[in-house]
Amino acid sequence: MRKDQASTTAYKVALNVLTLGAEPGMDKVLPSGMVEATEKLLLASGAVPCSWVQWSRARSMTCLYRLFDWLLPGMYLGVGYRKAFFEQQARAAIGSGATQVLIPGAGYDTLGWRLAPEFSSVQFYEIDHPGTACLKARGIEAMGQRENLHLVQADLGKLKLADILNPIDSWNPAGKTVVLAEGLLMYLYRETVRDLFVQSHRITGTGSRIAFDYISSGADGRPDAGPWTASFLWLLNASGEPWHWSISPGDLSDFLIGTGWTNTPDFVGESDRCGVEFLGVAVK
Ligand SMILES: C[S@@+](CC[C@H](N)C(=O)[O-])C[C@H]1O[C@@H](n2cnc3c(N)ncnc32)[C@H](O)[C@@H]1O
Repeated sequence: MRKDQASTTAYKVALNVLTLGAEPGMDKVLPSGMVEATEKLLLASGAVPCSWVQWSRARSMTCLYRLFDWLLPGMYLGVGYRKAFFEQQARAAIGSGATQVLIPGAGYDTLGWRLAPEFSSVQFYEIDHPGTACLKARGIEAMGQRENLHLVQADLGKLKLADILNPIDSWNPAGKTVVLAEGLLMYLYRETVRDLFVQSHRITGTGSRIAFDYISSGADGRPDAGPWTASFLWLLNASGEPWHWSISPGDLSDFLIGTGWTNTPDFVGESDRCGVEFLGVAVK
């Protein structure tokens, strides 16, 4: 993607969250306060026009999303289950003593902003490209800063996590940390993904965990997003945010060898999928 421009996939996820707020039954799945916070953030940041926010919250939009769900089967509701999964991972890790939450590729996700006051002794760090992170910072400023929420602007494809985080005074490389790589890894090249695992292992303490989602590889080695994969990949390319990385779930444990992380499928919970995405948790 163009590094100076804000991510379009980031606001698409956020708009999807707003529409899920109007979807009957999803209030039981979505983390409490998430829809409202996402709406505030989109409006305050100016990431999208106000009218898009209003349309996205309309009940009629739920039908439209369901109509287009064939393109990425199951992904409309899947985004909601994915959000719930990452929030559960954050809460479980904090409950077992994590003192840092790191969210690379945070986009317009509101977990850090919402959980920071509830867990005032935990430090939250978000990283994103400057184009997106600037808008987010503007929104957070208007919504109310959190002392323990740190918004960092960096390109993860160019800078190493250690070089991004170690200069920050409050970052504790020995601290028990939960890393939430949500909706990110598919946009990175294989070497960057591997380096993200290696680096995040180096700069976190014992007992840390990393939760992530990923796209499975098809027989041709390319990302497999269902029957319309080719069209979807074309659309992503055209939008300037192509997918680069995918992996078959069966190959994940081997991929993590040498990174320091151990794959723990049992930690994922009842379902290991959200739409076309797989969920993963690794521990150190
Ligand atoms: C699909 S959005 C997901 C946003 C958020 N994690 C969520 O799930 O709501 C992908 C995010 O990753 C960020 N991203 C992609 N490549 C990146 C890179 N090389 N460095 C930093 N951020 C990156 C984009 O700017 C965007 O905000």
